[in-house]
Amino acid sequence: MDVRVLPDYEAMSDAAAEIVAQKLRAQPDAVFLIPTGTTPLGMYRRLVELQEREGLSFSNATFFNLDEYLGLASDHPASYHVYMKTNFYDLVNADPAKVHVPEGAAPDPEAECQRYEAAMREAGGVDLCVLGIGRNGHIGFNEPGAPFDSRTRVVRLAESTRLVNAADFEEKCAPERAITVGMQTIFECRQALLLASGSNKARAVKAATEGTVTEEVPASILSQHPDVTFLLDRDAALLLDETDV
Ligand code: F6R
Repeated sequence: MDVRVLPDYEAMSDAAAEIVAQKLRAQPDAVFLIPTGTTPLGMYRRLVELQEREGLSFSNATFFNLDEYLGLASDHPASYHVYMKTNFYDLVNADPAKVHVPEGAAPDPEAECQRYEAAMREAGGVDLCVLGIGRNGHIGFNEPGAPFDSRTRVVRLAESTRLVNAADFEEKCAPERAITVGMQTIFECRQALLLASGSNKARAVKAATEGTVTEEVPASILSQHPDVTFLLDRDAALLLDETDV
């Protein structure tokens, strides 16, 4: 486990984009599993810049998103489809045929979960997974208690997660359920990168990196991963016993 503490959000975002870019340069057809949320916005901005400045190409890579709200049409402004198009997919030369986000409005959500899991498998598995972390330690929408052997499935969101995410919705109320890639699928990614910024993530980061490995702290599974990097800004690392800043 590599825990790196960067001075601030900008430096964390730079470092994250550089790891993604390195992967792409070494393996242009790599398979990525990537998050939404506030944390990765800086990383996405830098990746767009790297395409503009250096010609970094995304066209041969495959992208899967970690999650989507259940019942939300792909053109709903708060959907992760729209977030990803607005902040990344439409701004780079990603191949639409190689971009995947779970269909929150699929008529048969269980079948959609199986289809999505199979698509990741058929793509050869995930080379690099980039994750954010919830204040309660969730990764993807795997909330505390999510089984470590879970796959892509429909989950119920924690009330605390719905409250944090309510601001994204005009009606100030987030859906109760979501589709998320599961814990085992995340753990099987060949390389994992977790980003955390801000003091409101400090407790979750400490529990994930220094605490017991437990399903009550989903991100704690990553401490067992053979190739994981935690990229933290100073505030997210505040409670750690030892840091290399
Ligand atoms: C979103 C996702 C979530 C977020 C987490 C942190 O696709 O997988 O696990 O990464 O809720 O969200 P932010 O970055 O908004 O604090």
